[in-house]
Amino acid sequence: MSMCSSSESWSGTTKAWLIHGIVAGAAVAAAIGARFYLGQSRTFRSRVIGIIPARFASSRFEGKPLVQILGKPMIQRTWERAKLATTLDHVVVATDDEQIAECCRGFGADVIMTSVSCRNGTERCNEALQKLEKKYDIVVNIQGDEPLLEPEIIDGIVKALQEAPDAVFSTAVTSLKAEDAFDPNRVKCVVDNRGYAIYFSRGLIPFNKSGKVNPRFPYLLHLGIQSYDSKFLKTYPELEPTPLQLEEDLEQLKVLENGYKMKVIKVDHEAHGVDIPEDVEKIESLMREKNLS
Ligand SMILES: *[C@@H]1O[C@H](CO)[C@@H](O)[C@H](O)[C@H]1NC(C)=O
Ligand SMILES: *[C@@H]1O[C@H](CO)[C@@H](O)[C@H](O)[C@H]1NC(C)=O
Repeated sequence: MSMCSSSESWSGTTKAWLIHGIVAGAAVAAAIGARFYLGQSRTFRSRVIGIIPARFASSRFEGKPLVQILGKPMIQRTWERAKLATTLDHVVVATDDEQIAECCRGFGADVIMTSVSCRNGTERCNEALQKLEKKYDIVVNIQGDEPLLEPEIIDGIVKALQEAPDAVFSTAVTSLKAEDAFDPNRVKCVVDNRGYAIYFSRGLIPFNKSGKVNPRFPYLLHLGIQSYDSKFLKTYPELEPTPLQLEEDLEQLKVLENGYKMKVIKVDHEAHGVDIPEDVEKIESLMREKNLS
């Protein structure tokens, strides 16, 4: 406030006061403007791409992305859902397989060919990102095996990451059903009171003293969708495996163990992942029931 106290020396004429007012006002405006501008360019990650990684080979389900679900390939259903998300500037399929690529081009998707050496979806997203001509600030990793994923969930995690400049990663959770409490394939999550992830586990967390499920506790089930800061995505695959990650076999723990922040949003979603051929029939009957086509 040194500007205000120095105003004594200006106090000759009204004109001087007026000039002072304008100068001070301009300085304040410039300061606010600079702060806003710097803040934006540093933290507001506005350019967003959705990448659907898809591979043909799978130990549990060969050719999974191309399986027909009520007459449409599963990857097309995922892509159509992703295209409805309003926060995505662009949606691409990233694959190592010519058959998948051809199918996707056939229904109008942009395809990025990635190498067969990608070990998982995260690596495939990163390779695709490097191959894209345009620059993006945020990458959403949209798993191709959730054909009923709501576009609002994609938008939710993108906005969560944009609103949390200290986070490099965002993801979604939904309510855990009591029958899934002790299923190690259902990953549980606990968050702090600002919605940042504390931990993920295949075991039930928190663990009630009684050793049983507490019917009154709002346990959280982790959903596969995630988005990353694009600079972080480059370093993510290079981070060394960490003890908790290896013990639980959960890739995302590497993020937390390295001290990065992850924002978690809670959504209403019935998870209907397609992991094995038998899941196709289940999802089809559900879609018929709900009149989805
Ligand atoms: C455990 O769960 C029971 C309900 O099953 C609840 O009453 C209790 O407060 C929970 N916590 C502890 C520490 O027992
Ligand atoms: C997936 O790739 C990342 C990045 O390279 C690696 O750190 C992680 O361990 C891999 N996860 C699995 C399940 O293979």
